[in-house]
Amino acid sequence: MSTAATDAVSDPRAPVGVGVIGIGLIGTHHADNLARRVPGARLVGLADAQPGIAERRAAALDCSFWTRDYQQLLDNPEVEAVVVAVPADLHADVIVAAAQAGKAVFCEKPLASDLADADRAIRAAREAGVILQVGFQRRFDRAYASARRLVSSGALGQIQLLRSITRDPSLDQPERVTPGAIFRETLIHDFDVLRFLAGGAEPVEVYALADALILRDWKPRGMLDTAAVALRYDSGAMATADASFQAVYGYDVRAEVFGSEGMASIDVSDSAQLVHHTWAGSIRARPRWFIDVFADAYAAELAHFADCIRGRASPESTGEDGRAAMVMALAAMRSAETHRPVSIDEITA
Ligand SMILES: NC(=O)c1ccc[n+]([C@@H]2O[C@H](COP(=O)([O-])OP(=O)(O)OC[C@H]3O[C@@H](n4cnc5c(N)ncnc54)[C@H](O)[C@@H]3O)[C@@H](O)[C@H]2O)c1
Repeated sequence: MSTAATDAVSDPRAPVGVGVIGIGLIGTHHADNLARRVPGARLVGLADAQPGIAERRAAALDCSFWTRDYQQLLDNPEVEAVVVAVPADLHADVIVAAAQAGKAVFCEKPLASDLADADRAIRAAREAGVILQVGFQRRFDRAYASARRLVSSGALGQIQLLRSITRDPSLDQPERVTPGAIFRETLIHDFDVLRFLAGGAEPVEVYALADALILRDWKPRGMLDTAAVALRYDSGAMATADASFQAVYGYDVRAEVFGSEGMASIDVSDSAQLVHHTWAGSIRARPRWFIDVFADAYAAELAHFADCIRGRASPESTGEDGRAAMVMALAAMRSAETHRPVSIDEITA
C-alpha cells in the first residue's frame, strides 16, 4: 500500500479516495459529484471499457488516473473505494473483484441481475470485510428520510397502506430498454422505498401487471413500458406501485405512507417553489431529468458511503437491501408472466 493510502486510512479525517468504474449516464454524475461536492471523498481514478471515455472525463475533472481496464483501477493503492456504474449484468463480477482487492464498494442498483450473483457479491464483500452500499438514492432524499423518521417514531401509527410511483418523461431510446427493465431497473427503486417506509414489515406476496402501452409495436421484442404492482406485507399492510416510461408532463416520483394516525406524502418532482401564472392558467413545471430531482440525494448517498468507510455512520442501503428489492422485482416479473400472485418464498426457496 502506498504511503498516501496508508496515511488516509490511519487518519479518520482524510477524504476517502474513490474510483469510478463505468463512466456512462450515472457514472459521469457520480464522478462529477466526487470531484466537486461530496464531503469526505475525493475522486482518484476513472475506468471505462470504451476508448476515450474515462480519459476525456478525467481531463474535465482534473483527475490524474484513468484506464480502460477496471482491474488497473483496483490495483491503484490511491483507490480505497469504488463506485460501480457499469450495466447491471456486470455488477457482481466487478463487486467481487473490488472486494477481493480490499476496496469498499458503492454499487448502482440493481445489485445484480440474478439472485445467485447477488449472493456472490454479498458474500465477497462480507468475506473481505468491506462495505457494500447499493445506490438507492431515494433513502437519502430529505423528504423520504423525513417520512421514514415519522414511521419510525410511531407518529403515523400502525402502517396500513403504502404507495410508490415512478414515471419517466420520455421513452425516446427504446432500444436501450431490456426486457424486464421496468421491474429490475425502474420499479426496483419503488420496491426499495416500499421496504424503507414500511416500519420493518417485509413483503410476502406480489401481484403485477405489465404491458407495452406506449410503444405497442415493440411488445413482440419484449418491451414492457407500463406496470402496476400490488403487494402484501407480513404485518398485513398493503402497498401499490406503478411505473410508466412516458409521462408527457415530466418526471413524476411520489410516495405515500398511510397509517392509523395519519399519512406522509412525498412528491419530490413537484417544483412547488415555482409556479408560472399566465393568461391560460398556472403552470407548475415538472423536471424532465431525474438528476435534477435527486441531485442532493446522489451527493448525500456518496457522503454517507464515505462516512461509513471512516466509521462515522452505519451502513444504510446495504447489499441485503439490494437483494431484498431484487427478490420483489423477480416476484413481480414472475407474476406478470404467469398472471397470478407470487409469494416471496417462491422466489427465495
Ligand atoms: N440510481 C439511479 O437513479 C440510476 C440512474 C441511472 C442508472 N442507474 C444504474 O446505473 C447502472 C449504469 O447505468 P447507465 O445508465 O449509467 O449505463 P450507461 O450504459 O450509460 O453506462 C455504462 C458505462 O459502463 C461502461 N462499461 C461497460 N462495461 C464495462 C467494463 N467491463 N469495464 C468498464 N466500463 C464498462 C460503458 O462503456 C458505459 O460507459 C445501471 O445498473 C443502472 O440501472 C441508476
